[in-house]
Amino acid sequence: MSLVEIHNIHKSFGSLEVLKGVDFNVNEGEVVCLIGRSGSGKSTLLRCINLLEKPDDGIIKVFDEDILHTKDINAYRAKVGMCFQQFNLFNNKNVIENCILPQMKVLKISREEAKEKAMMYLKKVGMDAFANASVSKISGGQKQRVAIARALCMNPKLMLFDEPTSALDPEMVGEVLNVMKDLAKEGLTMIIVTHEMSFAKDVSDRVVFMDQGVIEEQGTPDALFNHPVSERTKEFLKAFTNKQ
Ligand SMILES: Nc1ncnc2c1ncn2[C@@H]1O[C@H](COP(=O)(O)OP(=O)(O)OP(=O)(O)O)[C@@H](O)[C@H]1O
Ligand SMILES: [Mg+2]
Repeated sequence: MSLVEIHNIHKSFGSLEVLKGVDFNVNEGEVVCLIGRSGSGKSTLLRCINLLEKPDDGIIKVFDEDILHTKDINAYRAKVGMCFQQFNLFNNKNVIENCILPQMKVLKISREEAKEKAMMYLKKVGMDAFANASVSKISGGQKQRVAIARALCMNPKLMLFDEPTSALDPEMVGEVLNVMKDLAKEGLTMIIVTHEMSFAKDVSDRVVFMDQGVIEEQGTPDALFNHPVSERTKEFLKAFTNKQ
């Protein structure tokens, strides 16, 4: 079943056309990695799915709902988890409060229930021992794992990740990618913008290469990375291999 169905979306910022007619589907349980050059429109596409941006034209259906005409944007957003490069945690609160407060506010559940769920997900990301630590005192990789736990506390049916590891020191990237790999194995539907090619190879059911505001090519990791068809895909991958 398709969880996300995008038909022909367009988005411009002033005279800059960033999305030039994108069709994009994601099935339930699928893990899709979005790759492409800086400025190709990856974040804009992701932000449209979460309604942080509104396309100028086109249709986006998520969970069978026409979200561009939704009456309750907050109810919709509560079903979609999002993790950014910057963690957007409350720095002046401790780890567990960061996971408790959104649940109380959005899901309207009791503090006790929220706390129990927060501990469960902090444990899942290996951060339960830091529940009472101040966010300002933990490392970047630990912050990102808390941000993932906080998102999971909302029981999302879909998770969006926008370069969750690109602000991290190299030695912390692995701990965050491992948490994401576990989520993928458990069947959570995820759309991940990433520059981590070996992670994308490893974890995704499908890799989507965006270029200049369109989806240039997509396929299984083996097809896209080992047998790309488009010249533009080949060029991108070649440049990437040379950089490593
Ligand atoms: N709110 C905005 N206002 C004006 N221009 C924007 C806005 N958001 C994005 N852009 C521009 O749209 C283009 C595509 O941006 P986008 O962030 O989607 O690219 P990206 O593929 O995610 O790139 P990166 O890999 O660098 O994150 C860029 O030229 C960017 O400067
Ligand atoms: Mg981006």
